[in-house]
Amino acid sequence: MILPCVLLVLIIPLYLWSRWYEPRCYELNRHTIRMDKALGASLKVLHLSDIHFAGKIRALDQFFDRIAAEDVDLVFLTGDVIDHEKGIPSCVENLKKLKPRIGKYAVFGNHDYYNYRLSDCFKHHFPGQGVPESLNPIERLAEGYADAGVHLLKNETVEILNGRTPLLIHGLDDPTTGKANLRTTMKNFDPEKINLLLTHTIDVFLDIGEGEIDVSFSGHSHGGQVRMPYYGAVLTHTMMGRAYAAGIIRHQGATCVVSRGMGSSRYTPVRFLCRPEALLIEIHGS
Ligand SMILES: [Fe+2]
Repeated sequence: MILPCVLLVLIIPLYLWSRWYEPRCYELNRHTIRMDKALGASLKVLHLSDIHFAGKIRALDQFFDRIAAEDVDLVFLTGDVIDHEKGIPSCVENLKKLKPRIGKYAVFGNHDYYNYRLSDCFKHHFPGQGVPESLNPIERLAEGYADAGVHLLKNETVEILNGRTPLLIHGLDDPTTGKANLRTTMKNFDPEKINLLLTHTIDVFLDIGEGEIDVSFSGHSHGGQVRMPYYGAVLTHTMMGRAYAAGIIRHQGATCVVSRGMGSSRYTPVRFLCRPEALLIEIHGS
Protein backbone atom coordinates (compact mmCIF):
# COMPACT_ATOMS: atom_id res chain seq x y z
CA MET A 1 0.00 0.00 0.00
CA ILE A 2 2.91 2.34 0.77
CA LEU A 3 4.53 1.85 -2.65
CA PRO A 4 1.43 2.87 -4.70
CA CYS A 5 1.00 5.92 -2.47
CA VAL A 6 4.66 6.94 -2.96
CA LEU A 7 4.35 6.43 -6.73
CA LEU A 8 1.19 8.55 -6.85
CA VAL A 9 2.88 11.32 -4.86
CA LEU A 10 5.75 11.30 -7.40
CA ILE A 11 3.82 10.70 -10.61
CA ILE A 12 1.00 13.23 -10.20
CA PRO A 13 3.30 16.28 -9.73
CA LEU A 14 5.57 15.06 -12.56
CA TYR A 15 2.57 14.70 -14.87
CA LEU A 16 1.13 18.11 -13.94
CA TRP A 17 4.57 19.73 -14.41
CA SER A 18 5.38 18.14 -17.77
CA ARG A 19 1.87 18.34 -19.24
CA TRP A 20 0.55 21.69 -18.00
CA TYR A 21 3.47 23.82 -16.77
CA GLU A 22 6.74 23.29 -18.65
CA PRO A 23 5.24 23.31 -22.22
CA ARG A 24 4.19 26.94 -21.56
CA CYS A 25 7.60 28.04 -20.16
CA TYR A 26 8.75 29.73 -23.35
CA GLU A 27 12.37 30.92 -23.31
CA LEU A 28 14.26 33.29 -25.59
CA ASN A 29 17.82 31.95 -25.57
CA ARG A 30 20.70 34.06 -26.91
CA HIS A 31 23.89 32.72 -28.46
CA THR A 32 26.81 34.33 -30.26
CA ILE A 33 28.66 32.48 -33.01
CA ARG A 34 31.73 33.50 -35.00
CA MET A 35 32.51 32.56 -38.62
CA ASP A 36 35.87 32.46 -40.39
CA LYS A 37 34.53 34.55 -43.32
CA ALA A 38 34.07 38.32 -43.36
CA LEU A 39 30.49 39.41 -42.68
CA GLY A 40 30.61 43.17 -42.20
CA ALA A 41 28.20 44.17 -39.45
CA SER A 42 27.08 41.38 -37.15
CA LEU A 43 23.78 39.73 -37.98
CA LYS A 44 20.96 39.00 -35.55
CA VAL A 45 18.79 36.02 -36.43
CA LEU A 46 15.60 35.03 -34.66
CA HIS A 47 15.26 31.28 -35.19
CA LEU A 48 11.85 29.68 -34.59
CA SER A 49 11.08 26.01 -35.12
CA ASP A 50 8.47 23.35 -34.40
CA ILE A 51 5.81 25.70 -33.06
CA HIS A 52 3.08 23.18 -33.97
CA PHE A 53 0.23 25.69 -34.08
CA ALA A 54 -3.04 23.76 -33.76
CA GLY A 55 -5.24 26.55 -32.42
CA LYS A 56 -4.94 29.61 -30.26
CA ILE A 57 -2.72 29.54 -27.14
CA ARG A 58 -2.68 32.74 -25.10
CA ALA A 59 0.77 32.15 -23.58
CA LEU A 60 2.20 31.64 -27.07
CA ASP A 61 0.59 34.85 -28.36
CA GLN A 62 2.15 36.71 -25.41
CA PHE A 63 5.56 35.14 -26.14
CA PHE A 64 5.31 36.35 -29.76
CA ASP A 65 4.61 39.87 -28.43
CA ARG A 66 7.83 39.55 -26.41
CA ILE A 67 10.07 38.31 -29.24
CA ALA A 68 8.54 40.80 -31.69
CA ALA A 69 10.03 43.57 -29.53
CA GLU A 70 13.56 42.30 -30.30
CA ASP A 71 15.57 44.20 -32.91
CA VAL A 72 16.60 41.51 -35.43
CA ASP A 73 17.85 41.34 -39.02
CA LEU A 74 16.37 38.01 -40.04
CA VAL A 75 13.68 35.57 -38.94
CA PHE A 76 14.19 31.91 -39.85
CA LEU A 77 11.42 29.30 -39.54
CA THR A 78 12.60 25.70 -39.86
CA GLY A 79 9.40 23.73 -40.17
CA ASP A 80 6.56 22.12 -38.23
CA VAL A 81 5.15 25.59 -37.77
CA ILE A 82 1.66 24.10 -37.79
CA ASP A 83 0.35 20.79 -36.47
CA HIS A 84 -3.22 21.13 -37.78
CA GLU A 85 -5.01 23.45 -40.22
CA LYS A 86 -6.88 25.00 -37.27
CA GLY A 87 -3.54 26.56 -36.32
CA ILE A 88 -3.06 28.53 -39.57
CA PRO A 89 -4.94 31.73 -38.53
CA SER A 90 -3.04 32.00 -35.24
CA CYS A 91 0.23 31.18 -37.03
CA VAL A 92 -0.25 33.95 -39.60
CA GLU A 93 -1.43 36.47 -36.99
CA ASN A 94 1.71 35.89 -34.88
CA LEU A 95 4.17 35.83 -37.79
CA LYS A 96 2.82 39.24 -38.89
CA LYS A 97 4.04 40.68 -35.56
CA LEU A 98 7.69 39.99 -36.45
CA LYS A 99 9.40 42.88 -38.29
CA PRO A 100 13.04 41.97 -39.04
CA ARG A 101 15.29 44.46 -40.88
CA ILE A 102 16.04 42.17 -43.86
CA GLY A 103 13.33 39.50 -44.06
CA LYS A 104 11.56 36.35 -42.92
CA TYR A 105 12.42 32.98 -44.51
CA ALA A 106 10.87 29.54 -43.97
CA VAL A 107 11.15 25.92 -44.95
CA PHE A 108 8.48 23.28 -44.37
CA GLY A 109 8.62 20.32 -41.97
CA ASN A 110 6.71 17.05 -41.97
CA HIS A 111 3.87 18.33 -39.75
CA ASP A 112 3.27 21.27 -42.10
CA TYR A 113 2.51 18.79 -44.89
CA TYR A 114 0.71 16.04 -43.00
CA ASN A 115 -2.14 15.92 -40.50
CA TYR A 116 -0.84 13.03 -38.42
CA ARG A 117 -3.22 10.58 -36.82
CA LEU A 118 -2.20 8.92 -33.55
CA SER A 119 -1.15 5.71 -35.34
CA ASP A 120 1.01 7.72 -37.78
CA CYS A 121 2.97 9.15 -34.86
CA PHE A 122 4.26 5.68 -34.02
CA LYS A 123 4.78 4.52 -37.60
CA HIS A 124 6.51 7.49 -39.18
CA HIS A 125 9.57 7.24 -36.92
CA PHE A 126 10.59 4.02 -38.62
CA PRO A 127 12.26 4.01 -42.08
CA GLY A 128 10.24 2.56 -44.95
CA GLN A 129 6.83 3.20 -43.34
CA GLY A 130 5.82 5.80 -45.90
CA VAL A 131 3.99 9.01 -45.11
CA PRO A 132 0.56 9.65 -43.53
CA GLU A 133 -2.48 9.70 -45.80
CA SER A 134 -4.09 12.82 -44.38
CA LEU A 135 -2.73 16.11 -45.72
CA ASN A 136 -2.72 19.59 -44.23
CA PRO A 137 -3.83 22.38 -46.62
CA ILE A 138 -0.24 23.33 -47.42
CA GLU A 139 -1.25 25.85 -50.11
CA ARG A 140 -3.32 27.74 -47.51
CA LEU A 141 -0.29 27.82 -45.20
CA ALA A 142 1.89 29.06 -48.08
CA GLU A 143 -0.68 31.83 -48.78
CA GLY A 144 -0.62 32.71 -45.08
CA TYR A 145 3.18 32.95 -45.18
CA ALA A 146 2.97 35.29 -48.18
CA ASP A 147 0.37 37.38 -46.31
CA ALA A 148 2.73 37.58 -43.30
CA GLY A 149 5.70 38.54 -45.51
CA VAL A 150 7.44 35.18 -45.05
CA HIS A 151 9.47 33.94 -48.04
CA LEU A 152 9.02 30.21 -48.46
CA LEU A 153 12.07 28.29 -49.76
CA LYS A 154 11.45 24.88 -51.33
CA ASN A 155 14.77 23.45 -52.49
CA GLU A 156 15.93 26.89 -53.59
CA THR A 157 18.39 29.61 -52.71
CA VAL A 158 17.94 33.30 -52.18
CA GLU A 159 20.75 35.85 -52.06
CA ILE A 160 20.49 38.74 -49.61
CA LEU A 161 22.81 41.58 -48.65
CA ASN A 162 24.04 42.36 -45.16
CA GLY A 163 25.30 45.85 -45.94
CA ARG A 164 27.60 45.06 -48.88
CA THR A 165 28.21 41.43 -47.91
CA PRO A 166 26.24 38.87 -49.94
CA LEU A 167 24.76 35.91 -48.10
CA LEU A 168 23.20 32.83 -49.63
CA ILE A 169 20.22 31.29 -47.81
CA HIS A 170 19.72 27.72 -49.00
CA GLY A 171 16.24 26.49 -48.04
CA LEU A 172 15.72 22.73 -48.16
CA ASP A 173 12.22 21.27 -48.41
CA ASP A 174 11.32 18.68 -45.75
CA PRO A 175 13.95 15.89 -45.68
CA THR A 176 11.98 13.63 -43.32
CA THR A 177 9.22 12.92 -45.89
CA GLY A 178 11.44 12.74 -48.98
CA LYS A 179 10.71 16.24 -50.33
CA ALA A 180 14.27 17.54 -49.97
CA ASN A 181 16.50 17.81 -53.03
CA LEU A 182 19.94 18.68 -51.74
CA ARG A 183 21.55 18.74 -55.20
CA THR A 184 19.00 21.28 -56.54
CA THR A 185 19.19 23.35 -53.37
CA MET A 186 22.98 23.48 -53.31
CA LYS A 187 23.49 24.21 -57.02
CA ASN A 188 23.95 27.88 -56.13
CA PHE A 189 26.53 27.09 -53.44
CA ASP A 190 29.41 29.55 -53.67
CA PRO A 191 32.46 28.98 -51.44
CA GLU A 192 33.40 32.66 -51.80
CA LYS A 193 30.12 33.74 -50.16
CA ILE A 194 28.53 32.99 -46.81
CA ASN A 195 26.30 29.92 -47.10
CA LEU A 196 23.43 29.56 -44.63
CA LEU A 197 21.19 26.49 -44.64
CA LEU A 198 17.60 26.16 -43.43
CA THR A 199 16.54 22.54 -43.01
CA HIS A 200 13.92 20.87 -40.84
CA THR A 201 16.42 18.24 -39.63
CA ILE A 202 20.17 18.31 -39.12
CA ASP A 203 20.37 14.77 -40.53
CA VAL A 204 20.98 16.20 -44.01
CA PHE A 205 24.57 16.78 -42.88
CA LEU A 206 25.07 13.06 -43.53
CA ASP A 207 25.10 14.15 -47.23
CA ILE A 208 26.78 17.55 -46.96
CA GLY A 209 30.50 17.98 -47.59
CA GLU A 210 33.12 19.57 -45.36
CA GLY A 211 33.01 23.37 -45.51
CA GLU A 212 29.92 23.68 -47.75
CA ILE A 213 27.80 25.35 -45.09
CA ASP A 214 28.86 28.13 -42.71
CA VAL A 215 25.82 28.17 -40.44
CA SER A 216 22.77 25.87 -40.49
CA PHE A 217 19.45 26.20 -38.70
CA SER A 218 17.19 23.25 -37.92
CA GLY A 219 14.73 21.73 -35.46
CA HIS A 220 12.63 18.52 -35.65
CA SER A 221 14.27 16.91 -32.58
CA HIS A 222 12.38 19.10 -30.05
CA GLY A 223 15.52 18.56 -27.95
CA GLY A 224 13.99 15.20 -27.13
CA GLN A 225 11.10 16.88 -25.20
CA VAL A 226 11.88 14.66 -22.20
CA ARG A 227 15.42 14.88 -20.86
CA MET A 228 16.94 13.01 -17.95
CA PRO A 229 19.56 14.48 -15.62
CA TYR A 230 23.10 13.26 -16.52
CA TYR A 231 21.71 11.51 -19.63
CA GLY A 232 20.00 14.03 -21.89
CA ALA A 233 17.31 13.39 -24.47
CA VAL A 234 15.53 10.05 -24.22
CA LEU A 235 14.33 10.12 -27.86
CA THR A 236 16.38 12.29 -30.21
CA HIS A 237 14.61 12.14 -33.63
CA THR A 238 18.02 12.36 -35.27
CA MET A 239 20.27 9.71 -36.75
CA MET A 240 23.30 11.73 -35.71
CA GLY A 241 23.14 10.95 -32.01
CA ARG A 242 22.04 12.48 -28.75
CA ALA A 243 24.59 15.33 -28.92
CA TYR A 244 22.79 16.63 -32.04
CA ALA A 245 19.30 16.83 -30.47
CA ALA A 246 19.66 20.51 -29.52
CA GLY A 247 22.19 23.29 -29.12
CA ILE A 248 25.02 24.90 -31.09
CA ILE A 249 27.15 22.17 -32.60
CA ARG A 250 30.27 22.24 -34.81
CA HIS A 251 30.05 19.68 -37.62
CA GLN A 252 31.68 19.40 -41.08
CA GLY A 253 33.13 22.89 -40.70
CA ALA A 254 29.64 24.34 -40.08
CA THR A 255 28.07 25.80 -36.99
CA CYS A 256 24.77 23.95 -36.64
CA VAL A 257 22.00 25.64 -34.68
CA VAL A 258 19.46 23.02 -33.52
CA SER A 259 16.39 24.37 -31.73
CA ARG A 260 14.46 22.57 -29.00
CA GLY A 261 11.40 24.00 -30.73
CA MET A 262 8.45 25.86 -29.26
CA GLY A 263 5.73 23.21 -29.33
CA SER A 264 5.02 19.55 -29.85
CA SER A 265 2.68 17.23 -31.65
CA ARG A 266 -0.83 17.45 -30.18
CA TYR A 267 -0.55 13.75 -29.27
CA THR A 268 2.60 14.22 -27.14
CA PRO A 269 2.09 17.59 -25.39
CA VAL A 270 4.70 17.05 -22.67
CA ARG A 271 8.10 18.52 -21.88
CA PHE A 272 10.42 17.70 -19.01
CA LEU A 273 13.74 19.51 -18.44
CA CYS A 274 13.43 20.68 -22.05
CA ARG A 275 11.65 24.03 -22.11
CA PRO A 276 10.30 25.39 -25.39
CA GLU A 277 12.62 27.97 -26.89
CA ALA A 278 13.12 30.63 -29.52
CA LEU A 279 16.75 31.36 -30.38
CA LEU A 280 18.34 34.73 -30.94
CA ILE A 281 21.61 34.06 -32.73
CA GLU A 282 24.13 36.87 -33.20
CA ILE A 283 26.56 35.99 -35.98
CA HIS A 284 29.96 37.71 -36.19
CA GLY A 285 32.38 37.47 -39.10
CA SER A 286 36.16 37.21 -38.99
FE1 LIG B 1 8.19 19.09 -34.79
